Amino acid sequence: MKMRMVTVAMAGLLALSMAACSGPGAGGGDSGTDSGGPGDTTIGVAMPTQTSTRWIADGNAVKEGLEKAGYKVDLQYAADEIPTQTQQIDQMITKGVKLLIIASIDGTALTSQLQAAADKGIKVIAYDRLIRDSPNVDFYVSFDNYKVGVAQATSLLHGLGLVEKDGKPVATPPTGTQNVELFGGSSDDNNAPINFSGSWDTLKPFIDKGNIAVKSGQTEFAQAATLRWDQATAQTRMENLLSSTYGGNGEGLAGVLSPFDGISRGIITALQGVGMGPTIAEGLPIVTGQDAEIASVKLINDGVQYSTIFKDTRTLAGQAVTTALSYLKGEEPKANDTKTYNNGVKIVPSYLLEINTINKEDIKPELIDSGYWTQAQVDAGQ
Ligand code: BGC
Repeated sequence: MKMRMVTVAMAGLLALSMAACSGPGAGGGDSGTDSGGPGDTTIGVAMPTQTSTRWIADGNAVKEGLEKAGYKVDLQYAADEIPTQTQQIDQMITKGVKLLIIASIDGTALTSQLQAAADKGIKVIAYDRLIRDSPNVDFYVSFDNYKVGVAQATSLLHGLGLVEKDGKPVATPPTGTQNVELFGGSSDDNNAPINFSGSWDTLKPFIDKGNIAVKSGQTEFAQAATLRWDQATAQTRMENLLSSTYGGNGEGLAGVLSPFDGISRGIITALQGVGMGPTIAEGLPIVTGQDAEIASVKLINDGVQYSTIFKDTRTLAGQAVTTALSYLKGEEPKANDTKTYNNGVKIVPSYLLEINTINKEDIKPELIDSGYWTQAQVDAGQ
């Protein structure tokens, strides 16, 4: 009898505490700490910065997808500050999120956050950038970062008349050696060296044949890297290269490998600043890019930037949401690569998506017709 009363009392307490957790309205309270239906569960989404339109699109698309599935989302941007991002993730864990989706700033700076998440059974999905040196990264969704580098270098060679758009060498390449310079991404982002090696492996045979040369001699990733993928840093390095190697006016410079549209715009500003161009038709060197940022899509449309690599953030966000939903249902998500992405501790199961090179003629079919940008946005550059 006594035993039964205790059981009844406990059931009553449980009911009370569940009611307290469910909070106002159909979706429940903000705590996200219970594990009732999706409406009671919060997912933490940590994005690096809002200075680039791609991360804003990524964040919004992930949030929308999870909310459609009935979950709450705590979406945070960290202004490219590592301590801000670690603090945001600490807070998400303390508040009781059930799963984390993280696009890291420094891929090596989150080991203790990920340990805290693992201790609480919180699954971690690395978004676009692999998180390194931690056993507690459960999954990685990204594009094939090596292929991005290959595509950027191929596009540079295409712009220089050395290959077809698909990378096949042309039958009669231009004679003589064309000078190029190389830029890489942020050395603390795992994507950057992979990206650079894809480009380097593609350019190397053309360097060996004498079709192109890196006149500054700065061919190592460490020399080419651009901390935080920062536009102003890239502009300064390009200005320095122009004065040290190209007579201060860019003479003899035919192309620049750029790994990201923000960096491309810094490079283009430097080139135009010494009187080159202002368009490719008027002698501006071939400059590549990545992310199909609206400001760069306009430059491509205007014949200023040569190309960008389109990584459809809607598809990536969709894949992150699919992966998250599998974990939340207690299932193993589907990977399409279980060999490539070693984070220094383990191979992280990955889902890698396809990319597209965008030149001027691809803007309409790839970006406008698919609803990624409108014609009005392309015209305005914002
Ligand atoms: C992403 C790129 C992006 C870069 C700068 C990289 O990790 O893969 O798409 O251009 O970060 O934000």
